[in-house]
Amino acid sequence: MKKVITLMLSLMLCVAFMTGCGSSDVYKVITEPTFPPFDTTDENGELTGFDMELMQAIAEDQGFEVEFESMGFDALIPAIQAGNADIIAAGMNAMDPDRQKKVDFSDYYYDSGLVVLVKEGNNTIKSIDDLTSDMKVASQIQTTGGDKANELAKDGKIKEAVILDQFDTCVLQVINGDVDAVIIDLPVAKSYISKQPGKVKIVGDTLNAESYGFAVAKGNKELLDKINAGLKNMKDNGTYDELYDKWFN
Ligand code: ARG
Repeated sequence: MKKVITLMLSLMLCVAFMTGCGSSDVYKVITEPTFPPFDTTDENGELTGFDMELMQAIAEDQGFEVEFESMGFDALIPAIQAGNADIIAAGMNAMDPDRQKKVDFSDYYYDSGLVVLVKEGNNTIKSIDDLTSDMKVASQIQTTGGDKANELAKDGKIKEAVILDQFDTCVLQVINGDVDAVIIDLPVAKSYISKQPGKVKIVGDTLNAESYGFAVAKGNKELLDKINAGLKNMKDNGTYDELYDKWFN
């Protein structure tokens, strides 16, 4: 009996030791989850999406662990700057000079662009040029789409930029007729359309070119190098393409 207890105790110690010390680093990855198929939630409310699975694959490849947490899009960069999180995985345009002053970005992992989204039955707005000074345009706070909406309002091309916390609310507002259009990333617009077919449509050309990157704290070269190495490996070994097929088809 004594032997059994001693054995069990030492086993427990072993496990405690292995999980406590000597194990791999755990990095906190943050996102805003109304950005399908990059950042979204499953039927149990768990964070999922292309960004999450790509980051998970990179972590496994590079021997670190990740835990995901969601917050407002405007809280992501401040959380990194304050040291409260390690990595942003949020479909974030890495080409933005203001962001580059605040965080360091990985190599690009997805090329994207903004589009105008209107209600399915809308026949007046066929492109961004059809927006008029009596119209409201929604987008998400502190995003490139939000910047564009603010710029349109400032130039007097629309009546108001409606800046909201979540993209799902923006889409709801255009469906309900509260706003005339939403400015949103093309793959995300497509995802919302496939989720609720017949409600909204994309009009006109893509408004810009942007590329998404993962962000880390300024100067965290060690982590950035791991992310870039892992990303390259995922592109080389087919994992990136597998995830692409899974989330974009
Ligand atoms: N690509 C846009 C930007 O960088 C929108 C990103 C929004 N991402 C999100 N997870 N809500 O500003």
